[in-house]
Amino acid sequence: MRIYDIISRKRDGFELTDEEIHFFIEGYVRGDIQDYHASALLMAIYLNGMTDREMVTLTLEMAKSGDMLDLSAIDGVTADKHSTGGVGDKTTLIVTPIVAALGAKVAKMSGRGLGHTGGTVDKLESIEGFDVALSPERFIETVKKTGICVVGQTGNLAPADKKLYSLRDATATVGCMPLIASSIMSKKLAAGSQCIVLDVKYGSGAFMKTKADAEELSAKMVEIGKMAGRKMAAVISDMDTPLGKNIGNSLEIAEAVEALRGKGSADLREVSLTLASNLISLVKDIDCREARLLCEKALDDGSAYEKFLEFISAQGGNTEMVTDTDKLPKARIIHKITAKEDGFISRTDAEKIGSASVILGAGRVNKEDTIDYTAGIILRKKTGDKVKAGDVIAEFHTNDERLIAPAEKTFFDALTFCEAKPEKSELIYKVIR
Ligand code: URA
Repeated sequence: MRIYDIISRKRDGFELTDEEIHFFIEGYVRGDIQDYHASALLMAIYLNGMTDREMVTLTLEMAKSGDMLDLSAIDGVTADKHSTGGVGDKTTLIVTPIVAALGAKVAKMSGRGLGHTGGTVDKLESIEGFDVALSPERFIETVKKTGICVVGQTGNLAPADKKLYSLRDATATVGCMPLIASSIMSKKLAAGSQCIVLDVKYGSGAFMKTKADAEELSAKMVEIGKMAGRKMAAVISDMDTPLGKNIGNSLEIAEAVEALRGKGSADLREVSLTLASNLISLVKDIDCREARLLCEKALDDGSAYEKFLEFISAQGGNTEMVTDTDKLPKARIIHKITAKEDGFISRTDAEKIGSASVILGAGRVNKEDTIDYTAGIILRKKTGDKVKAGDVIAEFHTNDERLIAPAEKTFFDALTFCEAKPEKSELIYKVIR
């Protein structure tokens, strides 16, 4: 078999065989197949698409290209949750303690923030002492003991995806549905959980800009997971507007704690409960409405909050920063942003708000960049709110006053004002099971 023939067959619109896909992934990870071959094949896939069978085979081959986590030592049903990425998206910090309080075993690998989107690992690291780099043995032990463990991606999990993703980034082949679906699902399958809920975002702050694309991606990922024997659900939710009000690492921990104490933004609570109830319905094999009641109870009676404290403590985090969020690291400068005109906010563009927060120091432009855990934005007003000129609409948190002016420009680019109250947009579009 020759990679040249595989590339030309895909270029000419033929369906690749399982053997050809296996040959490509194995050869590429081993280094026998070069980046220029892989780039040409990725572009042929980008232009011609993949059949469902090709996509499933590609996913399984990428999942098998490195370590496949064995969670069989954990008693109980293992559960995982994955978001396609967004701004202010701190739902992992709320969903995982809810479901763990209800008996699910959450063995989760999370990512770091990149570009305008945040990452759970960075948020957790803003808590003093929190360790995201546990050994595989401690990872399993912690899940067994507390019901949750969240760590960073291990070195050898789906290495084919790691290599291919960097190449896609450099060759304009990221935005291809079967490649995105197989990339995300290869990591989820390798991470080993039996039940998986996907939080698929659409809108300006998301990978998928439209509901239709988010729906197509969700259906593909759910199908792949089911074919691999996992129990799957995908929640399609809005990411045109940031979720909740805090954007930035320690600021998001504070908001998640607020939500776990039964307070906080209604949108954050709703998305978190929808995700948690879908996951619990898979874990316990019960109706989603029944699962919702259980999740609401765990959130409202404090058991999810207690579980969160247990989780932070088990991974070495300073729980005083949770019981008293004023003890979380704070930025030196808090700069208030005021409205320049009267009216209603008709749009709070998530991508631009995320970029403004990155400018203040909260995120990375390149993977190697360091971040300021204390930096970010608190939105005091969002889409649909009425404001008067001079009202405080946001707070910028930063340690470098030179960053305020450029962040402010991007922040105001994100906002659109109108005279009449705008219609509320849909927060949860659909659930696919
Ligand atoms: N996230 C991933 O992990 N892979 C993609 O291809 C896109 C988003």
